[in-house]
Amino acid sequence: MGAGLAEVCARAGLDVLVAVSRPARIADGRRKLVGSLDHALRKGKITEADCDAALSRVSFTADLTDFADRQFVIEAGPERESVKLDVFTTLDKVVEDPDAILGSNTSSFPIIQLGRVTNRPGKVVGTHFFNPVTVLPLVELVGSVLTEEETVATAETFVTDVLGKQVVRTKDRSGFVVNALLIPYLLSAIRVYESGVATMTDIDKAMKLGCAHPMGPFELSDLIGLDIVQAISESLYGEYREPHYSPPPLLARMVSAGLLGKKSGRGFYDYPPAAVHKAA
Ligand code: 3HC
Repeated sequence: MGAGLAEVCARAGLDVLVAVSRPARIADGRRKLVGSLDHALRKGKITEADCDAALSRVSFTADLTDFADRQFVIEAGPERESVKLDVFTTLDKVVEDPDAILGSNTSSFPIIQLGRVTNRPGKVVGTHFFNPVTVLPLVELVGSVLTEEETVATAETFVTDVLGKQVVRTKDRSGFVVNALLIPYLLSAIRVYESGVATMTDIDKAMKLGCAHPMGPFELSDLIGLDIVQAISESLYGEYREPHYSPPPLLARMVSAGLLGKKSGRGFYDYPPAAVHKAA
């Protein structure tokens, strides 16, 4: 989702710095950004001049110390606690302005866990966007018990007035609002499939035609990434211990086999290489 976030910020006129995990991934990050801007251009959402201007506002780095002068940083790393804690520990040291806000796009981790590894837990806030970031208007804003109200208010103004998105504020609970409701639905679809009620494609068809969902649960799980669905499920189950949050065996088997959805070329469905580049 980092590429989508960078695109939304650049299209809003901001100077954007994107961190990737290693220098070799810079070309990949830029290709995703160019691919998505081209898509928006083809769909008539932006002009060629907008596209060029947005691209010129984005730079890439593999070195977090380059974030020293930033005012608002949004972490969008993999949904693994150790990675997020490392990033927040480092950002806290390198970002010079003590009033700079450190946001996280985490799908499910409690914000307090990220805040408490910093010396500025009052400035740490959950800024949870939705995939595809360029299209979906919602951002969940999550303050921990230590987040200052001023931080949440500034983040809200940034998200609404600068990025043009809409906000729902939530308490600092695993899954916030959307994933606490969406993930059990996706897991239930896998359980329905495992119990032999219907085929995968028919379950998707049923939810699209019967409930007007734009995607069925298997298509959506592939878009989100099966590793992410599993990680959120484990986080929800860890917090609530309710059976409907626990990952079904098929999901765990697929993740361990590297079938991660659209981004890996295969999940519940197969994806041609062109579609893989468009995965967030
Ligand atoms: N910039 C601007 N607009 C764009 C764009 C871009 N880069 N890419 C696409 N769009 C616009 C298109 O112009 C189009 O707008 P229009 O309807 O006004 O013409 C619209 O977005 C749809 O785009 P496409 O025609 O390319 O694609 P589809 O119609 O097939 O829709 C989809 C694809 C947007 C993914 C749609 O199927 C959808 O909304 N699916 C549900 C996604 C969803 O539920 N996401 C939430 C996941 S949960 C999550 O992210 C949380 C995390 O923590 C797990």
